[in-house]
Amino acid sequence: MFPVMLKEFFLKNKFMKATAIAPSNIALIKYWGKKDEKLRLPANSSISINLSGLKTITTVEFSPKYEKDEVIIDQKENAKEGKRVSQHLDRIRKLAKISLRAKVISKNNFPKSSGLASSASGFAALTLAGAQAAGLNLSQKELTVLARLGSGSACRSIPDGFVEWRQGKDSQSSYAYSLFPTDYWDLSIITTLVESGEKKVSTSSGHQLAKTSHFFKTRLKKINDKIVLLKNFIKEKNFLAFGELVEKEALEMHAIMLTSTPSLIYWQPATIEVLKYIQNLREAGLPVYGTIDAGPHLYIICERKNEKELINKLKKVEAIKKVIINRPAPGARLVS
Ligand code: DP6
Repeated sequence: MFPVMLKEFFLKNKFMKATAIAPSNIALIKYWGKKDEKLRLPANSSISINLSGLKTITTVEFSPKYEKDEVIIDQKENAKEGKRVSQHLDRIRKLAKISLRAKVISKNNFPKSSGLASSASGFAALTLAGAQAAGLNLSQKELTVLARLGSGSACRSIPDGFVEWRQGKDSQSSYAYSLFPTDYWDLSIITTLVESGEKKVSTSSGHQLAKTSHFFKTRLKKINDKIVLLKNFIKEKNFLAFGELVEKEALEMHAIMLTSTPSLIYWQPATIEVLKYIQNLREAGLPVYGTIDAGPHLYIICERKNEKELINKLKKVEAIKKVIINRPAPGARLVS
């Protein structure tokens, strides 16, 4: 063992292991397309809600007993994911001025790489646990900047409740903060799982295609107005206007995906079936709206008072294999 590593270990031993839990989040205004790939600066600001039912718990331990980083996600080692995690640990090591390798054990309570945003909760939990284990003392804003470098949407899983990620002009100005606290608005977000399997095009590769769509420029021209409107609808708790905007925004992002070269279709037939089903529910008087990330599963949003009725209706839809009930949730937390 190198003397410098020994010193690090003995000096910082008490900080060298930490565990954090982080929620996934669902974007209301989507992050799709980057203006800087390496720094993960998004083409536009985005807004999301943290989800209480979809979480990742991660333990990071830096120690001289590890010769290389060991990364276990959902009880498996995977070279590609391990590399991305190790690159994130390098960012943490650089900030903390340490060179120790680490063991990372991470568990999701939902299927990863299926469009349920495991990279958001995963990199948020990894950032918080890693920073703590390395003895870093970062502000929440700094944690969001660090998480963003691992996976863009992860920065929105650090603050509580309803979160905005400001696109920024450089790394320090591209951060996330809480717009409204967790208990601001009694919403239910129902994740409906349909048949999927692991997705073929990762979100990170998908982002690169956004600019090949002719519609992308038009989207960016109008997005700031949309963000102002959405914030107002949340502030006023105007559910109908909020829901209309959120559903249209999801379809707009998917229109960019569909019209990219090559075309990206994350939907399955069941996605359309569930979307049409909830549009029919709406016509019949139940105020529910849907949004979809880079996967086939619909997230249905309603006010809490309508949750029970919605769940009962969804039981009749064969295409839905499972539902997960989410409420707005706090952001990443350390676990003792
Ligand atoms: C469709 O954050 O997964 O869910 O920064 O490359 O890791 P990387 O991408 P990621 O993209 C999320 C895209 C989205 C929309 C959103 O969450 O805003």
